[in-house]
Amino acid sequence: MFNLGRKNTKKVRGNAPDFSSYEGKIPHHVAIIMDGNGRWANLKGQPRSFGHKAGAENVTRITKHAFYRGVKVVSLYAFSSENWSRPQEEIKGLFALLKDFFAKYIDQVTKEDVKIMVSGDITAFPNDLISIIKTAVSQTSLCKNGVVNIALNYGGRQEIVNAVNQVVLEGLPITEDNISAKLYTSEIGDPELIIRTSGELRLSNFMLFQSAYSEFYFTDVLWPDFDEIEFDKALLDYLGRKRRFGGINEE
Ligand code: IPE
Ligand code: IPE
Ligand code: MG
Repeated sequence: MFNLGRKNTKKVRGNAPDFSSYEGKIPHHVAIIMDGNGRWANLKGQPRSFGHKAGAENVTRITKHAFYRGVKVVSLYAFSSENWSRPQEEIKGLFALLKDFFAKYIDQVTKEDVKIMVSGDITAFPNDLISIIKTAVSQTSLCKNGVVNIALNYGGRQEIVNAVNQVVLEGLPITEDNISAKLYTSEIGDPELIIRTSGELRLSNFMLFQSAYSEFYFTDVLWPDFDEIEFDKALLDYLGRKRRFGGINEE
């Protein structure tokens, strides 16, 4: 199951992949576009909210596993600046779910010594949700074991525009480094790997500046079904790639 046709992927203990030969190569930052909750629910004859609930539960499972594999930062696209165009009812449901999610997730990440960060403009959210997000961020701000960066009301183009505006306001030269330093990700850096579930082959306004040299992994698996095995497949696929950054491979 893990033989992805790449010569350096190994199999041990039946289907369990062996990551020991990849020490030092595990990506520092993995970003995930968690897509397909609605279709997952639909296939089960359930309302979309059922899919969002399962999707939120999957966040707990996948972040835990990513840190276990040695990833240090996991970015998760949870609500885009374009998602406001969804029906009011769905948006309200998502906010209620996020509130619930943060309230529970604080305990898990505190135990795991993982810090919660947010990318995006949460000021547009309801006050009770803003307040719980702020609590999660402040309560975990000193955690050292890893970072979960949740993109909420996030738009990549707007992020770049805001960053450039800040650079200009501070009278600094408009350079790549100065822009990078004003992005939400200034502390965590660019993702080496971006995963998108549900078969869609696009970025949907996610990390446009940061993804210049990211590796992409697209899978048809819908987000609630994207389990540890699927995450390992993505990781092994990434580990089997040659990143050239415009150069050539030295033999
Ligand atoms: C992703 O699942 C979650 C959010 C964007 C909030 P979707 O809700 O986009 O699910 P599909 O793409 O309609 O299946
Ligand atoms: C992208 O998914 C945003 C999130 C996963 C939060 P969408 O479902 O909103 O993307 P499109 O509309 O298919 O591009
Ligand atoms: Mg979608």
